[in-house]
Amino acid sequence: MLDTAQAASVLAEAFRLEVIAGLQGRPKQLSSRWLYDDAGSLLFERITGLQDYYPTRTETAILRRHADTMASFIGEQAVLIEYGAGACVKTQILLDALRRPTAYVPVDISGDFLAQTAERLRGRYPQLDVQPVVADFTEDFRFTARLPEGRRRTAFFPGSTLGNLDQGQALALLRRMRRHVGEDGRALIGVDLIKDTATLVRAYDDREGVTAEFNLNLLRRINRELHGTLPLEAFRHEARWNPYEMAMEMHLRCTSDVQAEVDGQPVSLQAGETIHTESSRKYDLRRITCLTEGAGWRLANFWTDDQRQFAVVGLEVVKRRNA
Ligand code: AVJ
Repeated sequence: MLDTAQAASVLAEAFRLEVIAGLQGRPKQLSSRWLYDDAGSLLFERITGLQDYYPTRTETAILRRHADTMASFIGEQAVLIEYGAGACVKTQILLDALRRPTAYVPVDISGDFLAQTAERLRGRYPQLDVQPVVADFTEDFRFTARLPEGRRRTAFFPGSTLGNLDQGQALALLRRMRRHVGEDGRALIGVDLIKDTATLVRAYDDREGVTAEFNLNLLRRINRELHGTLPLEAFRHEARWNPYEMAMEMHLRCTSDVQAEVDGQPVSLQAGETIHTESSRKYDLRRITCLTEGAGWRLANFWTDDQRQFAVVGLEVVKRRNA
């Protein structure tokens, strides 16, 4: 297990290598995880409050409306493991509904952010054992802080972050969660649902231009952290629906030929070429059932809103026979 400083330098090196490879290859692409530096995280917070961006408020409303049923599904004295520590609003809705929760274990790559989250929750829930873990949940990791034994564990993964992973990564994470929670485990996972393209495009190309700023901020980050010379004015934000992947994609489209450098390496783009910066996969009941079953889970609950825009699924570990 890494300490916060080590984790930060491993991450900085991964960023450098991935950006150079992603901008020198074709098609050009960067992992969406790099969108979240401090400025990017603030911009994302602003996105979650936009009229055009329906997922956050819809998921929050689903959690509020069904918190008691979800709490019964999870059971008493729960150990809640959250993958990625967010703004805590959703976590608190769940914690407030749980009966005598035992422990809360937020897992996040950003040690500083995690420490803040942990402090806030310790203040609010003095009885709760808060055990933050600095780790990249997209990679294999173990819990060094020992999780309380003899209590049912639940993996909590709201925010439709699952949608940012391709099928292989999503399966790997769902299997990892299954291992983390053990034989009697549960999971609560937020997924955004397939819907009309206009609503989807508006959510990822909002009228206030905040999502465009969020996307372009990645270039700003590259220029700042990797001595880049990418000309921001030559790029524009693009959001499009990919019907083959069932995903909303964000791209940065180059409007003129660009010759730049990143960390001393040459990077060139032709006019019209794009950098693919994010895929946000959308699901329906059948697809999320298939995906989760493939990872050893049974879909036990599907909580959604009246317009069926978003869903929180409740999963149970499939018990191994003869085990
Ligand atoms: C943070 C994964 C939920 O895919 O909707 C928001 C991020 N990207 N607008 C999403 C995002 C563009 C987002 N998640």
